[in-house]
Amino acid sequence: MTLNLQRTDLIRAGHLIDGRWCGEATFDVTNPADGSRVGRVPDGTPADATAAVAAAHAAFVQWRARPAKERAALVESWHDAVMAHQDDLGRLISREQGKPLAEGRGEVAYAASYIHWFAGQAVRSNGEVIPSPVSGKRLLALREPVGVVAVVTPWNFPAAMNARKIAPALAAGCTVVAKPAEDTPLTALALAFLAEEAGLPPGVLNVVTASRANTPGVVGAWLADDRVRKVSFTGSTPVGVHLARESAGTLKKLSLELGGNAPFIVFDDADLDAAVEGMMQAKFRNGGQTCVCPNRVYVHAAVHDAYVEKLAARVRALKVGPASDPEAQIGPMINARAADKVERHVQDALAQGARIVVGGHRLDRGANWYAPTVLVDATPQMACACEETFGPVVPVTRFTDEAAVVAEANATPYGLAAYFYTQSPARIWRVAEALDCGIVGINEGALAAEAAPFGGVKHSGYGREGSVHGLDDYQHIKYLCQGGIV
Ligand code: SIN
Repeated sequence: MTLNLQRTDLIRAGHLIDGRWCGEATFDVTNPADGSRVGRVPDGTPADATAAVAAAHAAFVQWRARPAKERAALVESWHDAVMAHQDDLGRLISREQGKPLAEGRGEVAYAASYIHWFAGQAVRSNGEVIPSPVSGKRLLALREPVGVVAVVTPWNFPAAMNARKIAPALAAGCTVVAKPAEDTPLTALALAFLAEEAGLPPGVLNVVTASRANTPGVVGAWLADDRVRKVSFTGSTPVGVHLARESAGTLKKLSLELGGNAPFIVFDDADLDAAVEGMMQAKFRNGGQTCVCPNRVYVHAAVHDAYVEKLAARVRALKVGPASDPEAQIGPMINARAADKVERHVQDALAQGARIVVGGHRLDRGANWYAPTVLVDATPQMACACEETFGPVVPVTRFTDEAAVVAEANATPYGLAAYFYTQSPARIWRVAEALDCGIVGINEGALAAEAAPFGGVKHSGYGREGSVHGLDDYQHIKYLCQGGIV
């Protein structure tokens, strides 16, 4: 299957270190829809990782000294280059990640929105003049870039997750070493290529690719290196905990956007059509492979059957297919391990008394495909309620009491997103305030936006991406005290 890119040079086959494309391409990047090869990239080593840090560290001196307006202009030129290649990048994302082409193109715009946002924030990164508590002194607080930032990103949004970490780092005056997910490194390399074309100086953004086996060596070299002052990671909670432990020795700043187990609650006064629409957006985007996907669905007994019937009709009508099919609305899982997990969750739920309304089986298209599924009679003991399924399964549980369902929604170590549907203004405040999480969707399924703070609490991590808070994690505050003022 050919990619048909306008710019075939967007497919890179090397690390980007200090403005040079280097390394021998030895491992294949494959299309999860059919296993065909999309590209081949180098398998990075600790030596590559350290060379990237050396480049980023050297480049930091000049990059941080550039006026914010100049950094903003370069970041904005990167944005323009990304949007100018939206179609090519969308194709590349879809091919290496598996999402439908419309979603691939949409992800490019989503990624670009963060780049644009942080170009704007670069010039608004004001310090403070602090009223002095004593005479004769003047107190100020400056915002300064932390230094070299290690960016470690997942495969589910190969463009957006890189953009929303790299753009604020660059805007703040930091330099970057990035390690994209082994399943989807090509998009990150293409983004870096466009950043270079847009005029980013050598060494400011470096990308090292690595296989699953070599990733610990590359990231481990960064964790141990004192010149790396911050790590920004999106991925699983166990890996986030590992990164926190391993970076403790050099006291790096950390942003961790980790696993979720989002509840989705439909109260008896909800607009059921809106709640169905919200579920379709939140659950089936990217085949259910987002960390904010609803994972546990609670529907009030009074509207349970009507809601399930409406939802089932929509899920049954979803068109499953590869990115090459322009009508496809949902693609494969990223790999067979991911499909195995979905299958295990469904089998476990059935063994514990759940019933299938739609789907509930693998598809006859290859090892990575699983049918969009709706289950009813789910219980808190089931694996699909305790673990993040990361696939297209909606397990529905019936409830009757508001306080009990909120307690159940909070009964998880995770706290990223939560959703609820109700028309009661008082309940909106009660429930939104009682939910233990970083992001709440109220009568809405599409939550993320560059202007909004994205991040979790508890085992879902810490730090916020996007919004006016998004630069904070890439800066420290320096206090200046001037005395002798008479
Ligand atoms: C994620 O799945 O990590 C991010 C989802 C989003 O940006 O909406």
